[in-house]
Amino acid sequence: MGRKGAEMSELRWHPFLEQWVITATHRQDRTFLPPADYCPLCPTRPGGFPTEVPDPTYDIVVFENKFPSLQANPPEPAVAATPLSPVEPAKGVCEVVVYSPRHEDALASMPLERIHHLARVWKDRYLELGARDFVRYVFIFENRGEAVGVTLHHPHGQIYAFPFIPALIEKELAASRRYHAEKGKCLMCASLAEEIRDGRRIVLEGDRFLAWVPFHARWPYEVTLASRGHQVSMAEWSAADMEDLAAVLKGLLQKYDALFAKPFPYMMVIHQAPTDGEDHRHAHLHFEFYTPQRAPDRLKFLAGVESGAGNYINDKLAEESAAELRRVGPASVAAVRAADEADREHAPSAQPFVRGQRPAHSMSDVLEAAFGPGEKAVTAFAPGRVNLIGEHTDYNEGFVLPMAIEDGIEMAARSRAGREVRVHSFDLGETVAFSLEEPIRPDPVHPWSNYVRGVLWALGRAGVALGGMDLAFGGTLPQGAGLSSSAALQVATALVTRALLRFPMDVPRLARICQESENELVGVKVGIMDPFVSLAARKGHALFLDCRTLAFEQVPLALGEHVVAICYSGVKHALVASEYNLRRRQCTAGVEVLRAHDPRIRALRDASLEALDACRAELDPVVYRRCRHVVTENARVLESKSALGRGDLRRFGESMDASHASLRDDYEVSCAEIDLLVDLARQSSGVLGARITGGGFGGCTVNLVARGAVESFRKEVLGEYRRRTGIDGWVFVSEAADGANLAGQIR
Ligand code: GLA
Repeated sequence: MGRKGAEMSELRWHPFLEQWVITATHRQDRTFLPPADYCPLCPTRPGGFPTEVPDPTYDIVVFENKFPSLQANPPEPAVAATPLSPVEPAKGVCEVVVYSPRHEDALASMPLERIHHLARVWKDRYLELGARDFVRYVFIFENRGEAVGVTLHHPHGQIYAFPFIPALIEKELAASRRYHAEKGKCLMCASLAEEIRDGRRIVLEGDRFLAWVPFHARWPYEVTLASRGHQVSMAEWSAADMEDLAAVLKGLLQKYDALFAKPFPYMMVIHQAPTDGEDHRHAHLHFEFYTPQRAPDRLKFLAGVESGAGNYINDKLAEESAAELRRVGPASVAAVRAADEADREHAPSAQPFVRGQRPAHSMSDVLEAAFGPGEKAVTAFAPGRVNLIGEHTDYNEGFVLPMAIEDGIEMAARSRAGREVRVHSFDLGETVAFSLEEPIRPDPVHPWSNYVRGVLWALGRAGVALGGMDLAFGGTLPQGAGLSSSAALQVATALVTRALLRFPMDVPRLARICQESENELVGVKVGIMDPFVSLAARKGHALFLDCRTLAFEQVPLALGEHVVAICYSGVKHALVASEYNLRRRQCTAGVEVLRAHDPRIRALRDASLEALDACRAELDPVVYRRCRHVVTENARVLESKSALGRGDLRRFGESMDASHASLRDDYEVSCAEIDLLVDLARQSSGVLGARITGGGFGGCTVNLVARGAVESFRKEVLGEYRRRTGIDGWVFVSEAADGANLAGQIR
């Protein structure tokens, strides 16, 4: 038996392979797949068990690995060396880099800003560790997924500061050195130029970084990511480099996750110049991604030939893997950026909003003030919405039951000569202009304008002859509160454009235009519900919509002594677009399995709970739960509609409660603050039902409350909410309002 603990750690020489083997027996004891509540990388919660990070929250943290393979003060080797078997102390540094305080985060879903920040941390560690005299190589990497042996799920990577240049990297550097000596140029630069010339294996292109499946790929979906220009190490990274790197990296990882509609396991390693003080101008910094998943249910193992002979067998053609990766996930780096902006846009502002604070002037006055006098303007008003029940069913061709609210967006517009479009946002005090001579593209600097651009883009694609315009808008809808300010902005744009250009287009088609705008130009794969209800709602009614046929019915909202109270959580959640799109893919993955059993199932709308349960064994457990939510939610919409017809509000409230539980547990689109608001609402008297509303991850809850109990509801729920979270929430009551109209005014 060996000695216990960190003492049994040393470098043993492998004379046949001429490389060091690290022995580190204490690593056997490291924490293995702990439950999420006991994750050692989470922040230490007040009163909770102490984690590795003794802070209530953090941004990105780096600390020394508790179970290090290499240590700055290593123990003396436990065995004596012989001439054939040299032994050295395992000197070095092993660090853990925790990317986010959120246990459920991943590089693929983190905001670009955070990834950029992580790149700065890597650079800093490379420089700092590399400057230590015993460190000859700083190796930065991430293992992701149990398939590659990850023992902690919290998003993190690692750094090994080696006292030698690791064997594989030494081999790669030697080849680069030889090539450089012979041809006078960098091997990676040459290989990159060849890949660009060929084009078939390119996956994603940034301005400065490029991701491709290398010609010589060893793993099924192996990717190399490198800078277009020659960079030997991170020491050369500028802010612009890291900004571009973040977008390419995030886009690539989103593609990976999209491949099989589930988190994709990978090893990400960074190769760059050693820090041994030698000349390494032939090195070229790059990331390599090794990917053991070769099919949704199949792993590639490094078995006999790979492990025993050192030669790889790849079952996939590099060209095909690249084509598959190109097809899924974000189509371009611009789309990655636009979705990131959309996430930020959807994130509510930290301050409580002041509802009803509307411009003192009419929007036509605002338009004139912004652009000077011109042709007479048309004005449109488009309301926001709250969904009573039927969440995440619209893009599954199911049923929804939303109502329009009294708040919305007002827009004034007029034609102008030429091909220029100018847009003024009254609330932001910003103006943008773009020409219709060029293809309409998303604007990362003014993301709010993408909703206007998107509608014009979709109308143009549908054959509408666009012309120059001036637009000005403002409103009383808080952005990012889950009340559909984006749909309202798009609907208002579509209506004023139709009025100015006088083309015929009915409500379903207009709603589709708005949906296409958001799906394709903004980059969020929303369903049809929001623009449809904003266009078609009727005062005093909820709108029952069949999202497959677009047949709809105005359902009288006879609430008697009850009202719809909307409660805003003030929560800033920055994951909306990517998580939303992931849910959609999971639903599609579920339908594929169901369809194999019954070809009549074209969407989750067609599936019964029995049909779903019959396929349970074949479904990924997460996908199963996502499907179960959609199937049961559709049934709840039908049930609620008939309960409303019977005046059975109690039943209606029960469906709302069940809907929340399903969104929280099966669809996992709620968050702690919203769950708290729902729990508090249920404890408050006079409340028949409460649930999260809209896309999720923050925003608002919708509550069915007795009219006389609204004030006590406001006081009790918001008071306790503030005490527990420190956040000022907001409650308001809205009647069911009319849909969008021309020349309407904000109340
Ligand atoms: C967002 C989308 C809608 C719908 C809801 C969830 O609001 O815009 O299309 O999917 O989420 O029900």
